[in-house]
Parts: sequence; C-alpha cells; structure tokens
Amino acid sequence: MMEQVEQLKGQALAEVKAVRDLKQLDELRLKYLGRKGQIKAILRSLGQLPAEQRPQAGQRVNQATQEVQAALESRQAELQRQAEEAKVHSESIDVTLPGRRPAQGVFHPLTQIVNEIIEIFAGLGFDVVTGPEIESDYYNFEALNIPKDHPARDMQDTFYLSEDTVLRTHTSPVQVRYMEVHKPPVRIVSPGRVYRNETADASHLPMFSQVEGLLVDEGIHFGHFKGVLQAFARQMFSPETEVRFRPSFFPFTEPSAEMDIRFGERGDWLEIMGAGMVDPEVFRHVDYDSEKYTGFAFGMGCERIAMLKYGIEDIRLLYDNDVRILEQFR
Ligand code: FA5
Repeated sequence: MMEQVEQLKGQALAEVKAVRDLKQLDELRLKYLGRKGQIKAILRSLGQLPAEQRPQAGQRVNQATQEVQAALESRQAELQRQAEEAKVHSESIDVTLPGRRPAQGVFHPLTQIVNEIIEIFAGLGFDVVTGPEIESDYYNFEALNIPKDHPARDMQDTFYLSEDTVLRTHTSPVQVRYMEVHKPPVRIVSPGRVYRNETADASHLPMFSQVEGLLVDEGIHFGHFKGVLQAFARQMFSPETEVRFRPSFFPFTEPSAEMDIRFGERGDWLEIMGAGMVDPEVFRHVDYDSEKYTGFAFGMGCERIAMLKYGIEDIRLLYDNDVRILEQFR
C-alpha cells in the first residue's frame, strides 16, 4: 500500500511537471485528486487495512495529496504567468515602425480630365448641362442637318436600338435640346458618354467621352471661336501649347474645323475636337433667327485629351482598370 502511494505520487508529480497548458492541468487534477481520482481511491480503501496500520497510512496519503496539490498550484501559477507574458508580447507596439497609410481612392484619370475641362469653361462663363445617352434619330442626326440616307451619317457608324432610337454618337444633340427651350445668349458645355460601332485601337474606342460646347449670341464670329478654344488649350495643357485648326466638314457647322494639338518629342499633331460656326440650318430647327444670332460649337474627345495630358500612348489603358496604372494619377 505504501509503495503504491509513493509510486502514484511520483507519477502525478512527473505528469504535472510535463503539462503544457491549463486545460491539461485541470484534467490531471481530476485524474488524481478528483472525487473519482486515483489518490482518493486509495484513501477510500484505507478501511481495509488492519487498524494499527491505518493512521500511518492515512498520514502518507494525506501527505501525498498535499504534495500533488502544491505541485498543481505552482504549475498553474507558472502556466498563467507564461500565458500572460505571451499575450503582452503579442500585443506590444513597436512605436518606431513607420505608420500605415489608409488606402485612399482617387478619381479615375478620365473623370479628373472631364472635371478640369468643365472647370476651365465654367471660368469662361459656360453652364454645364447634360442629355440622354439613348437618343432619338431626330436629335442625334435630323435636327443637326444630317437627314436619313445622307452620306454624312457614315462618319459616325451607329448602334441603332430601333429605327428611331440610337446610342448617341456624339454629344451634339444636347445643343438642339438646349436651344429648343432656351433663348440666346447661350453658353453651355455638356459632358457625357457617346457610342460608335468602331473597333478599338490605340486611339479609338467604341464607347468614349465628349464634352460638347455651344456659344450663341449676337455678333459672334470666327475670331471668338478661335480665341475661346485657344484659351482653353493653353489652360488645359500649357501657355506654350501649339494649336492648329484644319478645315473640315460637319453638316451642323459652316465653316467647320478640326482642332489639333502639337505633342511629344517628334512634334506630332493629335486631333482633339471637331468644331465650327453653327450652321443656320440648325438654328432653323430650334426657331432661332439666324439673321440676328451667330455662334460656334465644338465637341472634344476627353480620352484623347487625357492621352496628351498624361502621355498615355494607348487609349485602351484608360479602360483596362489596372490599379497599377490608375493609382499613378493622384
Ligand atoms: C463629332 O463628334 C462632332 N459632334 C463634333 C462637333 C461638335 C463638331 C460641334 C462641330 C460642332 P468627331 O467625330 O470628329 O466630331 O469627334 C470629336 C472628337 O471625339 C474627335 O476629335 C476625337 O477627339 C474624339 N473621337 C472621335 N472618335 C473617337 C473614338 N472612336 N474613340 C475615341 N475618341 C474619339
């Protein structure tokens, strides 16, 4: 019996020492000292001993109980301390580390360009208006002096939604919509998306953005037209920017011009807008007196302007949504 107690005690102390966490320690407590524990079992069996041996045996068992109890407690304290230390360690802050910046979103480079264009024209006294992207054949073509079956329709290959509705091919229909309900003087810009049945390449997309402009008043002539657009180009790019007006044709302007900007080391020209003096035929559609009023209009491609401004060589990069590219335009 004595040997059994000693052996059990030795085993218990060894196990307590080896234990790695508090849960295991609790299990050991039950295994040895619990109500159904092994040491308790010996205590219970003392009654079977001869009466003279009982006191001494009882004392041994009690002593073993106390020793195991003490070992359990000290191991518990030790494990608790270790757990706390680990916690403090894991939560400690290295105040010398550099700070972490919160991720900050930016406007898409194209949105930035459109906003910039609008701001420049707002500074010149233009209001901002918008029109629908799904447009009637009338506003997109007819009212702009492009009748059905006219060869000029081929300039803008079109997505037809029905015979009379199209995805607008340019922002020019907004001119007509605005003049129908406003009398001169008119000074507006109108940003928005336009659609053409075109294959994407380095400078063309089937969906792109334009900013339309329209100014109508008494006595407006080609000098005003050139002056405003030149002022715009110099603010948008730099005071030294070279611009060129090339004769062109639009059914809704007469005379018509294309404005190019000189860019790059080789000094290439890139067309950024179509423009011209408003054709009297357009004024007739909106009941303006073309003897009294004259004006000019323009429509610029915003992606092309973004390309020039940011030195982007392929227009498609603006729509790839590659964050590595977009985040460069802060
Ligand atoms: C027009 O769309 C006329 N509505 C512009 C206009 C307005 C003329 C008012 C006169 C008076 P054009 O098709 O040239 O014109 O397009 C205007 C600009 O849009 C071009 O100079 C170019 O910068 C841009 N652009 C045209 N097609 C594409 C395309 N597929 N992808 C990207 N940009 C384009």
